Amino acid sequence: MSLMFSSPVVTPALGSFTFSSRPRSNYIVMSAVRSNSASTCPILTKFQKDCATPTPYLRNVANAIADDMRDGLAVEGGGDLEMILTFVDALPSGNEEGLFYALDLGGTNFRVRSVQLGGKKERVLATESEQISISQKLMIGTSEELFGFIASKLASFVAKEKPGRCLLEEGRKRELGFTFSFPVKQTSIDSGTLSKWTKGFKVSGMEGKNVVACLNEAMEAHGLDMRVSALVNDGVGTLAGARYWDEDVMVGVILGTGTNACYVEQKHAIPKLRSKSSSGTTIINTEWGGFSKILPQTIFDLEMDETSLNPGEHLYEKMISGMYLGEIVRRVLLHMCETSDLFGHSTPAKLSTPLALRTEHLCKMQEDNTDDLRDVGSILYDFLDVEANMNARRRVVEVCDTVVKRGGRLAGAGIVAILEKIEKDTKRMGSGKRTVVAMDGALYEKYPQYRQYMQDALVELLGHKLASHVAIKHTKDVSGLGAALLAATNSIY
Ligand code: BGC
Repeated sequence: MSLMFSSPVVTPALGSFTFSSRPRSNYIVMSAVRSNSASTCPILTKFQKDCATPTPYLRNVANAIADDMRDGLAVEGGGDLEMILTFVDALPSGNEEGLFYALDLGGTNFRVRSVQLGGKKERVLATESEQISISQKLMIGTSEELFGFIASKLASFVAKEKPGRCLLEEGRKRELGFTFSFPVKQTSIDSGTLSKWTKGFKVSGMEGKNVVACLNEAMEAHGLDMRVSALVNDGVGTLAGARYWDEDVMVGVILGTGTNACYVEQKHAIPKLRSKSSSGTTIINTEWGGFSKILPQTIFDLEMDETSLNPGEHLYEKMISGMYLGEIVRRVLLHMCETSDLFGHSTPAKLSTPLALRTEHLCKMQEDNTDDLRDVGSILYDFLDVEANMNARRRVVEVCDTVVKRGGRLAGAGIVAILEKIEKDTKRMGSGKRTVVAMDGALYEKYPQYRQYMQDALVELLGHKLASHVAIKHTKDVSGLGAALLAATNSIY
């Protein structure tokens, strides 16, 4: 996928973009939304109106997120955003040395990694990793099953290490940074209890349990001589991993199956922090997915939420993250089919199947530049069993665009809320200091149109001057490195 802009300047995956201070002009939108509009359908017109996020409205959303951030920092449970204290005060410096491990659990795959750190000069000397998929059964099974499976894979990863390749000092246990990408009430750098599951996980009996204890027990049962030195969220891991290479990184954002943002906060701005020293900085895990106020929720969002595994929770996540965008579109199309003649007079059975349409399908349809929207036609045929005429194809693309535009713009408003909070306390952008948002997640990486909407909202709300000091840096898969680095920082040796 390539991006074509005149401004802002964007480099594709693994690159970063900074916002030019010049006003944006004639950039090329890749969307297949044509001038030949399909919005003559009343349901579509109403849906577009309900999903609209004009700048003043988006400003209110950013302000409401900022209010919830402040309330969450004031007292535990003060706002929708949990504003979790991560116990990460020191970000990687580059001096870390030795062999450390990382385990990343947060989606349908988990990843194990070993990292040999060589200090400031040599940085990462060697790294090995393995990705293992987690079955649907494990995602909704018992904690013993899930952690037993993870520990067994971790044990075989370690067993496969070639002697001499990984240098563990004599008498030392292996140390692990555990990235657990769900809301956890952290009690120290190496312990925390699960508040709730998200993203389709619902492992029984785990809420309120210490997730590190679950992993330790399973590792012990598998004879694995390893200890968890740091428990981190993927947003924190991304921030830490990205900071290792770039000291201007202040925010870590995940836009993937789920979403979250973590950032560097001044300790004196955290009333609920009861530690004696209130100087310096610490990382806050916002768990912004839980934001729920003044969101442009439609009947389709409400219905999707009701049937989800975590009804009433993580409503912002359900509007902006990759797990849900395809499903919202499917629900709108189903309604259009049942109440008008979107695909002729019958409703295709597959359209009633939850999750039949995935976010990656929306992306492919929005990128279809053929005159007859051929790719849109094929996706509708392949995944929904529908033969759609040109008008129906156009309407489908408009529904996709509406949902993706709303999601991208709302995500942009969230980033602005965090940047403005940082700016209020540090004045870094105002004084011309580069401020980097480290970004990871397949939604951001693979959906150019979503990225564009997010960036547009960011500039609209932040203004060109401040935005010109912001860089969004795509830092793919650095959360494992970040977790290993934090294990090094918090090593007991
Ligand atoms: C979780 C977060 C996580 C995010 C991205 C959300 O569902 O609540 O803890 O960081 O997904 O993986």
